[in-house]
Amino acid sequence: MFAQRPDIRPATVEVLVDGTPVRVPEGASAAAAVLLAGLPAIRETPVTGAPRLPYCMMGICFDCLAEIDGVANRQSCMVTVRPGMQIRPQRGAREAYRPEGAA
Ligand code: FES
Repeated sequence: MFAQRPDIRPATVEVLVDGTPVRVPEGASAAAAVLLAGLPAIRETPVTGAPRLPYCMMGICFDCLAEIDGVANRQSCMVTVRPGMQIRPQRGAREAYRPEGAA
């Protein structure tokens, strides 16, 4: 579905998407790396387990939630890749934010 034009060769960085090395253009988002990796899904919905991939690419749909460098619930379309970044599928429901001291 997504391919890079062979006549344009931007600087690239290597990231790991679910353990697989993927080269992506410098400045691309982690969601773009997920799509270039060809994963069937980056997360599953918590209620039905339906597979999801990045959709809007602008921070609206939350279908791109992923674990990035060990931090869960990151909107991968809003995160710029850097060399060695580790992007993993999001499993299960998001946890609610609780401020320190809250019960
Ligand atoms: S792809 Fe929609 S919020 Fe990231």
